[in-house]
Amino acid sequence: MEQVYLNGAFLPKGEARIPVDDRGFLFGDGVYEVTPFYGGVPFRLPRHLARMRRGLAALQIPIEAQGLEALEALHEEILVRNGLEGAEMAIVYLQVTRGAAPRTHHFPDPAPAPTVYAYARAFQRPSGEEWEKGFGAITVPDLRWARADLKTVQLLPNVMAQQAARAAGVADALLVRDGLALEGAHSNLCVVFGDRVVTHPLSNQVLPGITREAVLEAARARGIPVEERPIPMTELPDATEVFFTGTTTEVRPTVQVDGKPVGDGKVGPVTREIQEGFLELVARECWVEHPVGAGAR
Ligand SMILES: Cc1ncc(COP(=O)(O)O)c(C=O)c1O
Repeated sequence: MEQVYLNGAFLPKGEARIPVDDRGFLFGDGVYEVTPFYGGVPFRLPRHLARMRRGLAALQIPIEAQGLEALEALHEEILVRNGLEGAEMAIVYLQVTRGAAPRTHHFPDPAPAPTVYAYARAFQRPSGEEWEKGFGAITVPDLRWARADLKTVQLLPNVMAQQAARAAGVADALLVRDGLALEGAHSNLCVVFGDRVVTHPLSNQVLPGITREAVLEAARARGIPVEERPIPMTELPDATEVFFTGTTTEVRPTVQVDGKPVGDGKVGPVTREIQEGFLELVARECWVEHPVGAGAR
């Protein structure tokens, strides 16, 4: 039976309960992380934890030092408890909310103990065939708040955007604000112009993706020029390739946006090279075998 972690204990998911006063439930007052594991080894867990710490600090959710250490330790344990320690690919989801207290907009005083919840599950890469075919996206207005750099559990605009993509029969929603192509509903965006990879700079408008960081590193290591600058939608018709990056998304080639082909409408050489470079990083850091071929499993 699936075991989850809740406030210091591991228990069957069906027995996990949170109070109706939990501020995550009432206000979306909390942050979360999703960390990938390859062959039971985390990929860049310290980066994910650092992002969570930054989010907790920004929301002024008090959590003690030993509480943060426990967050790290529970990652491996929850995998083991769910028989996923040897899984080819798995994620650990971790959420911390401000905790439960009678509903007031301002922070409860004294501060309640934060609610800490985690679960693990396997995830899969698309088949080589699917990856080779590429994916589609639609553009959607970005309706999120002005702190999109924080990984909060307030995800309704992302949910609505992703549902619009699903209803349109495509994989991703590309969020557009003030005429700029920012990122996906749950991924970062890279647009390729010739041999150059362009992505929105880190700011309050995009999430500082751990995969984004790894992918840019892989690109630079392979001598692919990288530019971090805003991408006006008016430049999109000149794009030769587009791809999204994210923990479960990895590197997802996008061959059409709003029904129009990107470049020649095929997965391009820069995306392939970046995918290879990203998988090489994963292989090196998680000691897993490097999968053969761009999208191969
Ligand atoms: C809005 C948004 N952007 C980007 C990302 C990618 O971040 P990461 O690579 O750390 O998974 C996510 C991941 O959930 C996201 O929700």
